[in-house]
Amino acid sequence: MQTVAARADGLTILRLASPADGEAWRAAFAGAYQEIWSEPPYNERFSSEEAGAVLPRTLRIPDQITLLAVRDSGVVAGFAMAYPVSSKPDVVRDIRGLLPIDHTFYFAELGIMEAWRHAGLARQLIERRLELIDKTRFTHVLLRTSATKNAAYDMYKRMGFEDTGVYMEVASRRNDGSFRTDRRLFMAKVL
Ligand SMILES: CC(C)(COP(=O)(O)OP(=O)(O)OC[C@H]1O[C@@H](n2cnc3c(N)ncnc32)[C@H](O)[C@@H]1OP(=O)(O)O)[C@@H](O)C(=O)NCCC(=O)NCCS
Repeated sequence: MQTVAARADGLTILRLASPADGEAWRAAFAGAYQEIWSEPPYNERFSSEEAGAVLPRTLRIPDQITLLAVRDSGVVAGFAMAYPVSSKPDVVRDIRGLLPIDHTFYFAELGIMEAWRHAGLARQLIERRLELIDKTRFTHVLLRTSATKNAAYDMYKRMGFEDTGVYMEVASRRNDGSFRTDRRLFMAKVL
């Protein structure tokens, strides 16, 4: 585990390197994850076990970059993950031919808790992930965001991500208990 930044607002940005690093943060991460994805436009419902499992699962992926914005008190204010897109087979299926699979990184799971928004934290987590990618091996970054244009879309556009015009349906359990798909848009950036 490594501290990558200490912010004036008392948040520390940690980079987690292994599933063991994630253990202490698992419960707080799960709570933040559940809360953030339950909001519109996603309205997703994850059990605490499902949400908590995201952390060790991601930390086992080769070359992963996992950042948590935390307080010493154990609060998780935000999270951001990234890994080679080759470790995300459902996405590879949809973008094959569009981007060089072996040279594309995938930005997954960016979320900031409501109380900590509008303070540049998402931008910082995006910039840090971009910096940490090995540019000798990777030339592109891909992510997906809601096709319902929102703050995230504008944010990514301003940070140099382009709208690929390619969409994907993502199936998930929703707040009302139903299992439905929602539409996501792929955005990409050349490193
Ligand atoms: C989208 C989200 C990550 C932004 O987090 P944040 O820490 O508040 O964002 P920042 O403060 O770093 O702002 C980044 C940029 O987006 C803009 N922005 C952020 N939220 C905005 C909003 N609600 N409306 C308009 N612009 C917004 C900021 O003005 C800023 O632009 P600038 O850096 O060019 O001035 C956060 O609202 C969130 O977690 N939402 C729910 C989950 C989600 O949508 N994740 C992304 C899915 S891929």
